[in-house]
Amino acid sequence: MRTHYCGELRREHIGQTVSICGWVDRRRDHGGVIFIDLRDRTGTVQIVSDPQRTPESYSDAESLRNEYVVQIVGTISQRPEESLNAKIATGEIEIYATEISILNSVNKQLPFQVSSADQENVREDLRLKYRYLDLRRERMSKNLQLRHQVVKTIRNFLEEQEHFLEIETPILTRSTPEGARDYLVPSRVNPGEWYALPQSPQLFKQLLMVSGFDRYYQIARCFRDEDLRADRQPEFTQLDMEMSFMSLDEILDLNERLTCQIFKKVKNIEIARPFPRITYAESMDRYGTDRPDTRFGLELVEVSDIMKNSGFKVFSSAISSGGIVKVLPIPNGNETISNVRIKPSGDLFNEACAAGAKGIAYIRVRENGEIDTIGAIKDNLSEEQKQELLTKTNAKAGDLLLFGAGDKDTVNKSLDRLRQVVGKQLGLIDENKINLVWVTEFPMFEWNGDEKRLEALHHPFTAPYSEDLEDLANARAQAYDLVYNGLEVGGGSLRIYQREIQEKVFAAIGLSTEEANNKFGFLLEAFEYGTPPHGGIAYGLDRLVMLLTGEESIRDVIAFPKTQQASCLLTDAPSQVDKKQLKELHVNSTYKP
Ligand code: AMO
Repeated sequence: MRTHYCGELRREHIGQTVSICGWVDRRRDHGGVIFIDLRDRTGTVQIVSDPQRTPESYSDAESLRNEYVVQIVGTISQRPEESLNAKIATGEIEIYATEISILNSVNKQLPFQVSSADQENVREDLRLKYRYLDLRRERMSKNLQLRHQVVKTIRNFLEEQEHFLEIETPILTRSTPEGARDYLVPSRVNPGEWYALPQSPQLFKQLLMVSGFDRYYQIARCFRDEDLRADRQPEFTQLDMEMSFMSLDEILDLNERLTCQIFKKVKNIEIARPFPRITYAESMDRYGTDRPDTRFGLELVEVSDIMKNSGFKVFSSAISSGGIVKVLPIPNGNETISNVRIKPSGDLFNEACAAGAKGIAYIRVRENGEIDTIGAIKDNLSEEQKQELLTKTNAKAGDLLLFGAGDKDTVNKSLDRLRQVVGKQLGLIDENKINLVWVTEFPMFEWNGDEKRLEALHHPFTAPYSEDLEDLANARAQAYDLVYNGLEVGGGSLRIYQREIQEKVFAAIGLSTEEANNKFGFLLEAFEYGTPPHGGIAYGLDRLVMLLTGEESIRDVIAFPKTQQASCLLTDAPSQVDKKQLKELHVNSTYKP
C-alpha cells in the first residue's frame, strides 16, 4: 500500500510516483485547487488536486475532512517558487494526486484539533481521555519517538559496547523495600495471600549477580503507590542496571559514558566528563538539598557560629536547642526584592512557610557596611558580629540576606525553596545549561521521627563505607545519585554482599532477626553461596526523557499515563469489579461510599 512515509519526501524524489498513507492534517480549498496536508508519524507533505491536472482525484479531494485516513498515489513535483515552505522538511515539493482512496472517515466531531498547524492548548483531561488522538499530535508523537531513541541508544551502548544482558524479573512478587506503599494483588490459588508489584527489581538483580550474570540491565516497569506529582507516576519505567566486580569509580565512569552517549545520539550535545561530584554533606551545606541545581549560584552560608552569642533570641535559641542559622545571600537583592514580599503574606514568606519555616528574618546591606533590618536583629548584633557576618556571606552594599533559623532540616528545606524561587524569578538560571552532578556519600540512615527508628536513606542493601562500620548509625553509604539541573534522574549504590553486614544493617533499622529472615531470608541465604561484590543503579527513564524533550511533566513522555489521582481517563481504571471476582480472590471490600 505504501512506498514512502510522508515526512521523508524531498527534492531528490521529484519525478517519482509514490503511494503514501496517513491522516488529513488540513484541507484548504483555494478556489478550484485543493491542498491537503497529509500526516503520518514522520511529518506532513502537501498533496494537490485540481480539475485540470488531476480530474481523476478531484471529487475525492473535495470530500476529504480533517483526520480522514487516506491512501494517495501521485507524482512528486517541485513546488512553484511562491509556495516554497522552509519551515517544514518537505516544503520544497508537493504531490499531484492521481488517486485518492478514503480508507476511513471521521464520523464524530473531534474533541480537539489534531493538526500541527493548530497550536491550541487543550485541557489535559481531554487529552488523556482521547489519548489516541493526542498521540497523533506532533508534540506527543515527537516525544515518544525521542523516548524510543533513548531506549535504543541505551540498549546499543549496554549490549554492543559493554556486554550487558537484558533479563526480565517478575512483576508478581514479594514486597521490595524502596520506601513507598506497595500495590498488592490477591492470590486466588493461595487464599489470604498477596503478591506485591515490584517497586523496583532490586533483589532480583542482586540475585542475578549471585548467579554470575555479571552485567544485567532491564527497561523495567516499577510500581509505587505514592502521592503523585509532575515527576512521579504510580507505574513508571526504570533503566535498571547491576554489575559485579566493579569499583564505585568504575561504575560511575561507565554510567557517565552511557549518559554522554544518550545526549550525543539524541540531542547531538557533547557533555564533558568526568561529571562533577559533590558529597551529600557538602550539597546540604551549600544548597540545602541533596538535589542541587548547580546552574546558578545563590549558595547558602551557615552562620550559626556568629549568631550563637547574638542577643537576637530567635537565632540564639534556635542554636541552643540544637538547630542552625543559615543565610541565603542575594546579590543586589535590595533592588529586586521588596520588604512586602518577605513579610507575612508576601510570596517569599509563603514559600518559606510552605517548607515548614515560621517566617524569614532579613538584613539589607547598605553603603559602608551599614545594615538595615526590620525587627530586632540589627540592635542585637555587635559590631564585630556584623563584620563577621558580612565577611562570611561575602555581602556587598545592595545585597539582601535572607535568614533561616531552626532545626537543620527545616532551615535547609525552606532556604532551598527560596533559592530556587528567587533564582528563577531573577533570571539567574540559564535554561540552555545541562548540569549533571553526582551526589555521593549519603548517610546510611535517617531518623524516622514518627516511627522512632532509623530508616535506610536509599535501601537497606546499600553498603556502608568499610571505615565507617564501627559506628554504623552514623555511617556514610557507598551510594550515588545522578542529579540533572536539580532533578534526581538516577540513583544506586555498591551493595552489601556479606551476610554479617547485611544482618547488622537490618538490625540498625529495627528489623529483628526473625523479621529479617522472614522477609529477606532468601537473600541472606544466597549471600552464603558465593556472592560477588556488586553494585548498580537505576534511572527514572521517564524523568530522563522529560528533561531531554524539555517537557515539564513525565505524563507528556508516557503514552498512557495516569492522572494525579492515579486514574486512567481513557479506560476508566481503576474500576469496580464483579462480586464474583472478589469472592474468587477471597477478598471483601470494607469501603463504604
Ligand atoms: P530509586 O528509588 O532512587 O532507586 O529509583 C530510581 C529512579 O527512579 C525514578 N523514580 C520515579 N520516576 C517516576 N515516578 C516515580 N514514582 C518514581 N520513583 C522513582 C527516579 C529515581 O532516581 N533499586 C534502586 C536503584 C538501585 O539502587 O540500583 C531504586 O529503585 O528518577
